[in-house]
Amino acid sequence: MNMKKYGLMAFTCFFLFSCQPQDAKKNIVEHGFRIAEEQLSAQLKENPEPGKYPRTIKDGKLYTTRMNDWTEGFYPGCLWYLYEYTGEDLWKQAAIQWTETLEPLKKLTNHHDIGFLMYCSFGNAYRLTGNERYKDILIESARSLCTRFNEKTGCIESWNYRKAWNGKDEWFYPVIIDNMMNLELLYFATRMTGDTIYAHIANTHAMTTARNHFRQDYSSYHVVDYDEQTGQVLHQATCQGFSDNSTWARGQAWAIYGYTMAYRETRNPYYLQMACHTADFWLNHPNLPEDGVPYWDFNAGQDGYVPDWKYAPQRFPTIPRDASAAAIAASAFLELSDYVENGSKYWTAAEHILSSLTSSEYLAQPGTNCNFLLKHCVGSIPHGNEIDVPLVYADYYYLEALLRYRAKQESAHRQLASY
Ligand code: GLY
Repeated sequence: MNMKKYGLMAFTCFFLFSCQPQDAKKNIVEHGFRIAEEQLSAQLKENPEPGKYPRTIKDGKLYTTRMNDWTEGFYPGCLWYLYEYTGEDLWKQAAIQWTETLEPLKKLTNHHDIGFLMYCSFGNAYRLTGNERYKDILIESARSLCTRFNEKTGCIESWNYRKAWNGKDEWFYPVIIDNMMNLELLYFATRMTGDTIYAHIANTHAMTTARNHFRQDYSSYHVVDYDEQTGQVLHQATCQGFSDNSTWARGQAWAIYGYTMAYRETRNPYYLQMACHTADFWLNHPNLPEDGVPYWDFNAGQDGYVPDWKYAPQRFPTIPRDASAAAIAASAFLELSDYVENGSKYWTAAEHILSSLTSSEYLAQPGTNCNFLLKHCVGSIPHGNEIDVPLVYADYYYLEALLRYRAKQESAHRQLASY
């Protein structure tokens, strides 16, 4: 056996035997999906008509949105992942129904979240069915997203004009770190059409974001506001994090995921460096809890971080965790582990997060949690919204991460068998 093959085999063995007992590893995926099947069957029964998209719990009840927010793509996405895992037609039919209802959103141009809305739904639909109609809907969605791009700023405008929490600062061209996630739709459109304009916009956005959204230590700002005429940065701030100079956990997770995905789509080594730096900031942070599930902000309540929204520390004797940020990061770490030589540290981190999320601390008992999967997520504390609740996007990235985890385990087993 030559050295390269020996090295590969050693790496494969590490994946298979290193971190958790074999049964525990297998159980993460099986157990997670067993709960998902039970919970989503019950949720579908309770809320059968496509149009009211599950998002969270409010006042103890299932809270849904009607194609007027940023989260409607995640529920059909969860149904597609259940179909992918089980192969059962029942899930496919439900996924088709809940996806196709979203078609009018292909024309959405009043905010940037069309990437989340359409790629998590129609993107998975196209990947799993090959239906050409879905491809056309995705391309039209990509065209809609491009209308928010401006060559002067070099990025896609996330939100329309609004004010900061202090009521004084005006944001004219606010771009949020989450926007990295919408680029996947653009790369897809270039791949499908051969028209490079979509990837050009995605790459310009990714490079501008790399310049303006990060501090020296690769922690991220949530919001960067630009002057549309000159392209100059006007503000580096937060809307959902603790303070302008803090690191909002989900924002950091979007950055890690976004640059890992951008590397997959382009093989630009600069994106890989960004993915690793932002991931390493997360993994090396002294305030990352032992179970790998972050506080909603890495700096919440710390000295030197002053919010400009009304923070009432007595309301939070313990700082809330955000399982949604953990699920997004786990999924990103699994993909990132494929792209770097020292990938085992990302694999280990993902496995650790997934075993925490699959424990009874975070994963709901069947029949509870309004039939969502994960507990202990945070939507936005500054908005006073969705604190310590389930969130549909946490479930989506959790299921995605479980599937990625399973795929990597299977490929490691296949490689081992071929030696
Ligand atoms: N994209 C909005 C959020 O992450 O809350």
